[in-house]
Amino acid sequence: MEKRVFSGIQPTGSPHLGNYLGAFRNWVALQEDYDAFYCIVDLHTLTLPWDPAALERRSIEGAAALFAAGIDPAGTVVFRQSHVAQHAELAWILTCVARMGELRRMIQFKEKSRGGDAESIGAGLFAYPVLQAADVLLYQAHGVPVGEDQRQHIELMRDLAIRFNSQFGDTFVVPEAYIPKEGARIMALDDPADKMSKSSKRPNSVVNLTDEPELVAKKIKSAVTDSGRDVIAGGDKPALTNLLMIFSLFDGSTVPELEERFAGSGYGDFKTALAETVIEGLRPIRERYLELMGDPAELNRLLAEGAAKAAAVAEGTIASVWERVGLGPRPGPQ
Ligand code: AMP
Ligand code: TRP
Repeated sequence: MEKRVFSGIQPTGSPHLGNYLGAFRNWVALQEDYDAFYCIVDLHTLTLPWDPAALERRSIEGAAALFAAGIDPAGTVVFRQSHVAQHAELAWILTCVARMGELRRMIQFKEKSRGGDAESIGAGLFAYPVLQAADVLLYQAHGVPVGEDQRQHIELMRDLAIRFNSQFGDTFVVPEAYIPKEGARIMALDDPADKMSKSSKRPNSVVNLTDEPELVAKKIKSAVTDSGRDVIAGGDKPALTNLLMIFSLFDGSTVPELEERFAGSGYGDFKTALAETVIEGLRPIRERYLELMGDPAELNRLLAEGAAKAAAVAEGTIASVWERVGLGPRPGPQ
């Protein structure tokens, strides 16, 4: 059997450069050699306050961004999580396998629940990584291509798979995180200590895949730099290190090659060249995205097709889970 990869993206905010360089780019590359499943995880979006009116539109935009980045709907399965009911079903069973202590240790839970009143944090936010485990385990995926921020969630899904297998018999493939060596953590343009994030409230921190060229240029020109004048990467140069990494990933040159190319130039010239490179790199993605968004019915059709293919695989797994845990054979259609 061809090895399988599974990954997901939330339909919140606009997809950005960090998503592209840390995730989508690898998702596109992996679809050549793997049986690939990419999911718009709309149920995960319900774990923080959300806007019901925006959810469907954001989901369609997410699919358009994936196809625009180069995901091929002919060979790769792209679908909405809520369209495949088995995700919620397996999530419940795994909730009963997971432990309070291991969920409480999740860094993303701690970060996202910080600041609020501890008693009113949503229970869904606590269970978030269990739903994520269900996403992957349903498809018996070997690899989970994600950015660095997801490492701990993948570790947890491995633990849940191993625990389930030893308690109920071999059922799940134990997946591995596929985290790229470069680009796995793109930082905010206005603060290199903070990751580039959809939830940022500072518009200049993020380059969205749909930003117009002039806006991309403006954001890159206003990016913070480090003290000094030289265009070099290093531990004491977090801002330049991030900008050089972005340049390198779009341009194909290594960071040392770029340091050499910009030796003696100031930050201004470097940023102008970086802006051009990013704009050219994003141009085909942006154009294709706008074209796809012109036909939402076609995007919905592709998502429905994806959901049907996904459900066929997911049902096979959940049927054996039901038998193993003692729920008996799955009833036929009601
Ligand atoms: P999210 O934006 O949280 O829905 O994440 C979707 C995918 O993009 C996940 O695989 C993340 O790990 C990845 N990702 C998100 N932000 C970044 C970033 N700043 N740098 C690299 N990868 C990222
Ligand atoms: N938690 C992931 C993120 O924020 C999104 C996600 C949900 C996911 N389910 C997944 C990623 C399954 C990989 C596999 O980026």
